[in-house]
Amino acid sequence: MNILVLGGGGREHALAWNMKERGAGKHRLFIAPGNPGTAQCGENVDIAITDFERLGNFCLDNKIEMVIAGPEEPLVKGAWDYFQKDELRSIHFIGPSQFGAQLEGSKAFAKAFMNRHQIPTAAYREFSAEQFEEGVNYLKAHSLPVVLKADGLAAGKGVVICETHADAIIEFEAMLVQAKFGDASKKVVVEQFLDGIELSVFILTDGKDYVLLPEAKDYKRIGEKDTGLNTGGMGAVSPVPFANDDFMQKVTERIIKPTVAGLAKEQINYTGFVFIGLIKVNNEPYVIEYNCRMGDPETEVVMPRLKNDLAELCLAAAEHRLRNIHIETDQRAAATVVAVSGGYPGAFEKGYKITGLDGAGERSIIFQAGTKQQEGEVVTNGGRVLCATSFASNIPEAVAASKEALSRIKFDEMYFRKDIGYEFAD
Ligand code: AMP
Ligand code: GLY
Repeated sequence: MNILVLGGGGREHALAWNMKERGAGKHRLFIAPGNPGTAQCGENVDIAITDFERLGNFCLDNKIEMVIAGPEEPLVKGAWDYFQKDELRSIHFIGPSQFGAQLEGSKAFAKAFMNRHQIPTAAYREFSAEQFEEGVNYLKAHSLPVVLKADGLAAGKGVVICETHADAIIEFEAMLVQAKFGDASKKVVVEQFLDGIELSVFILTDGKDYVLLPEAKDYKRIGEKDTGLNTGGMGAVSPVPFANDDFMQKVTERIIKPTVAGLAKEQINYTGFVFIGLIKVNNEPYVIEYNCRMGDPETEVVMPRLKNDLAELCLAAAEHRLRNIHIETDQRAAATVVAVSGGYPGAFEKGYKITGLDGAGERSIIFQAGTKQQEGEVVTNGGRVLCATSFASNIPEAVAASKEALSRIKFDEMYFRKDIGYEFAD
């Protein structure tokens, strides 16, 4: 199959890696825009992920049969809808419609969807600028901490957890009145704080049936033991030890099945991934958020554990054959550790030469994220630069192998967390 993957980070490298390895050469892969890592799995195409016209023309010119969207941005901006036009219609597009992508693109939409389908989530109310006074009164009476969420996409910064009513009111005003996140905070969701442990669950669905992919846990904070600023993700492990059969049964019955049934009932065009951010509170699962794509860096452990060819799974989704699909999973533990540029998630330099990429060893896979090719060398080009994924019989050994692989890679001001999976060290 001729396949175009949209995106250019570690997630897209992992998606392409799976299809190259599991597809055993059956597919011709293109990645737009890709990075030097994805170039090892297919051909990079220099087109922006939101330039739908050029992407569409490229697909027609190169007889692309399937497009797989990596990040949310093109989906929230209507990539699926664009690909319903004329000859593009015959190309399978993996990713929801713009309407369906609101599960990620609008927190208020997602919360209302969960309420309509009795899916467990934190209690909430949404407010617009006209309801400012009402919102302030609501906040004053709210239990603490209280969670404020900008409705729209805010580059991962739109969720603020406030410990006092005074802080909550200041933040509420900043979002709603001072447009702290621009249009994204025109509406604000005020939500009950849930205290528990988080995990990420992934399904691939056609909006009626679904398959469950391996679950993962990611580590969002920059500092050891989950301290410091939030990042895009500093590492991930899979499987998640506390996601045992009993718990996953609850997730399936109370969350996954009602979510897919909700999509079907509301006739939402949704052929793609649903990333369900869950929190386990007293052994019960609640949805923190939906995303309309795979997670990053979770994909860098999920795709290596997935023994199926992702391209075949996506084709089955597009052709409504998911019911007959059996997911095969590597039973070993996988861990990925992300190496970032010094200063990230604040300001950081780019353009540092990366050495040692070939010496990662047999046990690890190096997925590239913020890298680019420059004068014959691979240099840093982003905050999250690359990650090392390793397998072992348990999480601590897998993490140790990834750290060992990273110790052989060098770039100026390289930093990575040494404690990924720390809760699972025994
Ligand atoms: P989100 O942008 O929705 O992924 O939220 C970012 C992070 O905020 C989540 O991963 C959680 O750690 C935290 N968070 C969001 N909603 C809640 C909540 N209701 N209770 C506790 N933590 C939350
Ligand atoms: N790792 C979290 C995310 O991709 O949003």
